[in-house]
Amino acid sequence: VLSTIDHVGIAVYDIDESLALYRDALGMPLVHRETVAEQGVDAALLDVGDGHVELLQPLGPETAVGKFLERRGPGLHHVAYRVADADAALEELRAAGLRLIDEAPRTGIRGSRVAFLHPSSTGGVLTEIVEPAE
Ligand code: CO
Repeated sequence: VLSTIDHVGIAVYDIDESLALYRDALGMPLVHRETVAEQGVDAALLDVGDGHVELLQPLGPETAVGKFLERRGPGLHHVAYRVADADAALEELRAAGLRLIDEAPRTGIRGSRVAFLHPSSTGGVLTEIVEPAE
């Protein structure tokens, strides 16, 4: 059901400052920036091969990423796997006994459809599935 790693999500204090590392030093092209209000973040996507790095800067301290930064500091936030059909994938994962954060897919970056699985059922790793927009 999962086809490939679509991106890793990284929590940062400041996207513009983080571009010095990911774009300038590591050489990943910046391909997209967007405020994803539904997830409480400003986000940036950088290309690396067929996948992406997703930088996440919280819109405020009460957002999920804001609380993560407060608790853990900047760093790896989630791993996202690409799927062809987010609804079907979510059904399969639910049937496999995994604990869902999102009972149905919601809108993610670049018009994608995404859903998160709870880290308590995925070995401590916040896990996202993403159905890219065409
Ligand atoms: Co993500």
